[in-house]
Amino acid sequence: MSDLPVLPPDFVFGVATASYQIEGAVREGGRGPSIWDTFSHTPGRVARGETGDVACDHYHRYREDVALLRDLGVDSYRFSTAWPRVQPEGRGPANAAGLDFYDRLVDELLAAGVAPALTLYHWDLPQALEDAGGWRARDTAHRFADYASLVVGRLGDRVARWITLNEPFCSAFIGHAEGRHAPGAREGTPALAAAHHLLLAHGLAVSCLRDAGAGEVGITLNPERITAVGDGEEEIAAARRAETLRNLAFTDPILGARYPEWERETWGPLADGSYRRDGDLAVIAAPLDFLGVNYYAPSRVAPAPRVEADPARRTAWDVGAVAAGWPGARTTEMGWPVVPSTLTDLLTGLVERYPGLPPLYITENGSAEADQVGPDGVVHDEGRVDYLREHLGAVARAVDLGVDVRGYYAWSLLDNFEWAYGYDRRFGLVHVDYDTQTRTPKDSYHWYRRAIAGHRERS
Ligand code: NOJ
Repeated sequence: MSDLPVLPPDFVFGVATASYQIEGAVREGGRGPSIWDTFSHTPGRVARGETGDVACDHYHRYREDVALLRDLGVDSYRFSTAWPRVQPEGRGPANAAGLDFYDRLVDELLAAGVAPALTLYHWDLPQALEDAGGWRARDTAHRFADYASLVVGRLGDRVARWITLNEPFCSAFIGHAEGRHAPGAREGTPALAAAHHLLLAHGLAVSCLRDAGAGEVGITLNPERITAVGDGEEEIAAARRAETLRNLAFTDPILGARYPEWERETWGPLADGSYRRDGDLAVIAAPLDFLGVNYYAPSRVAPAPRVEADPARRTAWDVGAVAAGWPGARTTEMGWPVVPSTLTDLLTGLVERYPGLPPLYITENGSAEADQVGPDGVVHDEGRVDYLREHLGAVARAVDLGVDVRGYYAWSLLDNFEWAYGYDRRFGLVHVDYDTQTRTPKDSYHWYRRAIAGHRERS
């Protein structure tokens, strides 16, 4: 018996990963450098100076990893292709060895009965494009569309679910305004330009994927459930600005065909629109078959003074709002509060705000826990089991309330490179010993396997 909440019979169960976080082999098969190679090799950027050079060595061990997926019994596996494997310099003809790797991976998945869900961009921009301006430059959006065409041209006959970008919020603002992710910039208007060009890249890629007859096409965003610390005018205004930075900058253009509400209030003269052209919105708002939602934790925000008085030196991150914590909630190893009901609220909120919202997939959800392999060789990660069960319960409640959620991908199959935190934040259902590359399924893996099997028996 599994204690999984009741979900629709054809609900898709999956797990997710991303190229730079698991593949390693950064100099093999003709792969070029990405902004994450540069960033992680820059002293002080990633905890303990860790890099994705080896990561989970998935590039060499993908067969073993697909066997783990098969035994887990998931319907689908979400992974990303590394742009610099496909185009080492981000432009020009495909590097055959790069596409060959993903071709083998896709065939291995299909042979295991696992449907591939492919993300085209999970943050590893070719360094050569960064050198030419990166996402601040409009040309990068066009280069992305070319790359999408190359990948769909090779894999479109076997991959049924396509995700253009993963969390453009992080690429744009954590990468170009907060500076905690590659390329590590702290900018104002250029960060807003990056956000716009990511949106444009998405829209252009949708059109290429459609032209190539790709299956389901969508994007993965990470809208957060944001609440104000109080109902004072200033408190509510701070939450509105945080909401614009975090959510509306992406959801309003893509799902509502409009530029974000409260933009002026949030960014003032930084949002000068110099990066926008007539016709862009229509490209960005191309109809989608689904929206992918990554969800981890809610946030409560309080007003905060803007740090830079000089608008030219303000970053696009500095919107006069600060996280205020979630009193009473357990926090994970990331320090994120666990409040599953906020996932239900987020999903119903999306339906209310965007008429005609496409079906949803939860494309990531999971928790970092202080996992250890015990003397018995087992990882008892009750915290993660509770987290997954309760968030699947929150999804089931949203479905009961009428939200069309088609599936759920747990983050992540494997412990992996958690960006600026390096390897000590473990999100995997499978433990990875980075010295030996030994994979050890945790209790959460066994729980998820039983839950999926139980769902199939009931359906
Ligand atoms: C979202 C990102 O897509 C993924 O790469 C990351 O590891 C997880 N969040 C956890 O922080």
